[in-house]
Amino acid sequence: MTSSLSDLTSTLTSALSNLPPQDKIQDAERMQLLGVIGQLQVALEPPQVPIGRFCFSHYGIVVIRIAQGMGIFNAFAESQGKDMTLKELSSKVKGDEKLLRRIMRFLSSQNIFKQTASESYKPLPLAMVFGNGSPPGDMIKHFHNNMQVTAKLFEYFESNGYKNPEDAYDAPFQLAYNTKNHYFEWLSQNPTIQETFNSVMTQSQQYRGADWFEIYPVQEKLQVSPDRVLLVDIGGGVGHDITAFKKHFPDLPGKLVLEDLPQVIDTIKEPLHEGITAIGHSMFEPQPVSGAKAYYLRTVLHDFPDKQALDALARIRAVMTEDSILFVHEHTMSDDLDVPPMAATLDIHMMEIFSSLERTEKEWVALLEKGGFKVVKVWNEDSFGQSTALFEATLS
Ligand SMILES: C[S@@+](CC[C@H](N)C(=O)[O-])C[C@H]1O[C@@H](n2cnc3c(N)ncnc32)[C@H](O)[C@@H]1O
Repeated sequence: MTSSLSDLTSTLTSALSNLPPQDKIQDAERMQLLGVIGQLQVALEPPQVPIGRFCFSHYGIVVIRIAQGMGIFNAFAESQGKDMTLKELSSKVKGDEKLLRRIMRFLSSQNIFKQTASESYKPLPLAMVFGNGSPPGDMIKHFHNNMQVTAKLFEYFESNGYKNPEDAYDAPFQLAYNTKNHYFEWLSQNPTIQETFNSVMTQSQQYRGADWFEIYPVQEKLQVSPDRVLLVDIGGGVGHDITAFKKHFPDLPGKLVLEDLPQVIDTIKEPLHEGITAIGHSMFEPQPVSGAKAYYLRTVLHDFPDKQALDALARIRAVMTEDSILFVHEHTMSDDLDVPPMAATLDIHMMEIFSSLERTEKEWVALLEKGGFKVVKVWNEDSFGQSTALFEATLS
C-alpha cells in the first residue's frame, strides 16, 4: 500500500512538472482532470482537512477585500507586476506596515503572491486580476457584500422556525440589510454596489460556457424582415449578451432590443452597437415590444420565486404572436444524486438574496407550462461545474 501511494506521488509529481501552460489546456480536459483530482483529494483527506476548510474558507475573500481597500493589487498593477519589498509597497498603499506584512503573508500562503525573500513579494497571475474596476475584483466586492447576508442566515432560520423562504420581500437579505426593499430596488439606491453587480454579470459568461446562439440554429430559425424586432433581451444587464449576438450575426435582418431596469440601463457608458436599442423597463410592467420574433431571458427568472417569475412571463406572453419564441436560458439543478458544489451553492445564494431557487429542468418546464407556454425543446449544456439549459418555448 505504502509503495503504491509513493508510486502515485512520484507519478503526480512528474505529471506536475510536465503540465502544459494554463492557456494551452482545453476546458473539457481541465474539468475532467480536476474532477479526478477532487475525488483523489476526498479519498485521501482525513476529516480535519475538510473541517478546516469549512471553518476557514471565508477568510480568503475577506483578506482579498482588505487588500483591495489598501490598494495592494493596484500598486502591483501600476508597477507592471514587478516584485516589491515590503518597504516599497508600504510607500504606495494605505495602512501601516505591520498590518501590510500580515496581509501579504496571508495572500502569499494562498498563492496570490510568492514571497521571494523574507520581505519581498512577486505577484502571481491571480494578484494581477483583483485591481480596481476589474470584473474579478468586482466579483470579490460583490460576494463580500453578500457575505453580510450569509452571516445572518442562521439567525433568520432560528427566528422563522426553519421555513423555506418564499417571499422576495422577506428574504435573509432584508434581515441583514434592515430594509423592506427588494434586492434590485436596494441596488438602485446604492449606485456603487449596482455598478459592481453589473460588472459581475458581464463576466459570469465565462462561467457559463457557450453563448446560446452558438447552441441554437439561429440562422435557420430566426429569420425576420428588417423592420421587425428580431430579439428582445429582457434583464440583459448592460448589453453584453445582445452585443455578442450582434457581433456574431452582424448581417442578420431585424432589430435588437435590450431591456433592463432603468438604473441598469442608465449605467451604460459606451453607445451600444448600431442596431441595438436599450429600454429602461421593468419586466413586471406591460411589455413595450409587441410581436418580436424572440424574447430571451438569461438567468433573470432564477432571481425570482414562482409568483414573480409567472408575473414576468405573463407580461411577455401577452405580446407574443403565433410565431414568437420565448428563450429562457438558465442554470439547471440536477435531479441526479451528485449535484456539483457550485450548483448547490448558487441555490443557497438565490435563497438568501431573493427567496428564490435554482430549479431542476422539470421545475423549469413546469413553471413555463404553468405560465401558458409549450416547451418545444430543451437545449442542454454543461459549463464550469454548472449545468445550464436553453428552454425554447412558444404559446401553448
Ligand atoms: C442575474 S442578472 C442576469 C443579467 C444577464 N441576463 C446575464 O445573464 O448576464 C439579472 C438581471 O435582471 C435584471 N432585472 C431584475 N429585475 C428586473 C425587472 N423587474 N425588469 C427587468 N430586468 C430586471 C437585473 O437588473 C439584472 O441585470
